[in-house]
Amino acid sequence: MKKVNKICCIGAGYVGGPTMSVIANQCPEITVTVVDINQERIDRWNDEDLDKLPVYEPGLKEIVASNRGKNLFFSTEVDKAIDEAEIIFISVNTPTKTYGKGKGQAADLKYVELCARNIAKVAKTDKIVVEKSTLPVRTASAIKSILQNTGNGVNFEILSNPEFLAEGTAVEDLLEADRVLIGGDETPSGKEAKDILSSIYEHWLPKERILQTNVWSSELSKLVANAFLAQRVSSINAISALCERTDANISEVSRAIGTDSRIGPKFLNASVGFGGSCFQKDILNLVYISRSFGLQEVGDYWEQVIIMNDYQKRRFAEKIVSTLYNTVSGKKIIFYGWAFKKDTNDTRESAAIYVADALLEEKAEIIVYDPKVTEKTIYADLDYLGTRSPEENRKLLKIATNPIEATKDAHAIAILTEWEEFKTYDWSEIYDKMLKPAFVFDGRRLLFKDEMEQKGFQYYKIGQS
Ligand code: NAD
Ligand code: UGA
Repeated sequence: MKKVNKICCIGAGYVGGPTMSVIANQCPEITVTVVDINQERIDRWNDEDLDKLPVYEPGLKEIVASNRGKNLFFSTEVDKAIDEAEIIFISVNTPTKTYGKGKGQAADLKYVELCARNIAKVAKTDKIVVEKSTLPVRTASAIKSILQNTGNGVNFEILSNPEFLAEGTAVEDLLEADRVLIGGDETPSGKEAKDILSSIYEHWLPKERILQTNVWSSELSKLVANAFLAQRVSSINAISALCERTDANISEVSRAIGTDSRIGPKFLNASVGFGGSCFQKDILNLVYISRSFGLQEVGDYWEQVIIMNDYQKRRFAEKIVSTLYNTVSGKKIIFYGWAFKKDTNDTRESAAIYVADALLEEKAEIIVYDPKVTEKTIYADLDYLGTRSPEENRKLLKIATNPIEATKDAHAIAILTEWEEFKTYDWSEIYDKMLKPAFVFDGRRLLFKDEMEQKGFQYYKIGQS
């Protein structure tokens, strides 16, 4: 089997950056180059100040610090990296299409296709091309067709190797992966390519955890894994609405059902709704693929997971308005958290964006505090929705750097992200600063109802009456 000396990854985002840093860390004999067309992103990956890395993940900066400049490089020289590498990972974004056929549902594959064309143009020696991005089933055939029609005699093996890391725990998930999935052709050269890729992961993972499949199973399994995870969140969120009407407590229900070993305890935390760059995008993609194969009922079934998630976000915003005497106009509401979950600076599809949008439409004045998300990102998220002008967004929504001071004369606090630091705040001090009655809307089930009520708050918690 061929020994791997050089690999490259196209796309230095939330997947490419952490994944390649861990590979470099675990495989000191392999030179890993991560390339991107976004100069600012690459500059930040190369910044001396490790707090400026473009991706915040616990444990990541330590790994980058110990490998960068040795066998880990970040660069905008895409062609050079492709030319030199034996294995090329494609880890670019695959957002939901915003135009044309499949608009609003299908995955936009233009970035992936550009990568394939670039590889076809530059490669002079045989390469293994790995789909790391999440792609619709049968995308590998499109990549193969682009690569095989170059006429330059180079042989390409296409593998699907989807990533299962979750943000906020990326390093841990990579080091302790439940499984690694490698899909490829069943031909002798396809099998050899799978074994070569497997040998990289075998540096730190037991071989039994590396699953080899055909390429289509691998592509589809990634979409299905996300759909199943998101479905659990929507299922428990549906029940949380019922709990609020019936005196049942969603934590108790989660525990009661999660101890059934056939159900299991994970992904049963009721919340204001799931966010993140992938759950919604991947389910929409699954819905689109199902319907395009004429499987209407299959598409409808999975679409319901998204419908329930939208309902949960809307329900939370409506609860705030109805509790604050049916009007939030001119009322000061503090948002604790903007990221889509704790321990990440990523805000893509965060529930906070949609809750803020609904409240701003009601003319609330919002002040946001998030320990890791920048002001620029928060305004960009709101402006992107296009509901209001950028000027109006900046007039109605402000950013706080001091979460305690921000609560002075506030009518309510809404907890949108489960950052641990919110638990450590002196909530009595916060209560004293706020207008009375002081309301807390806990969309993350972070605090204790009894304690908050003892301090004087009117406290609403998702899934509890
Ligand atoms: P991202 O937007 O953070 O990063 C993608 C990067 O690719 C960007 O920096 C962009 O500039 C770069 N890029 C786009 N086209 C390029 C080109 N032609 N040449 C060079 N660079 C290019 O995206 P991400 O979150 O890292 O996701 C990447 C893929 O991985 C997606 O398909 C996603 O569904 C999948 N995925 C993401 C996660 C996650 O936790 N974010 C987890 C598993 C899988
Ligand atoms: C998810 C999957 O967990 C990863 O396996 C997958 O690789 C990734 O998507 C991807 O393809 O991008 P991620 O979105 O980063 O990872 O984070 P999760 O931990 O799955 O959380 C997603 C959302 O669901 C968050 O908003 C989170 O707060 C919410 N959630 C999660 C709940 O509301 N309740 C839960 O019980 C679990």
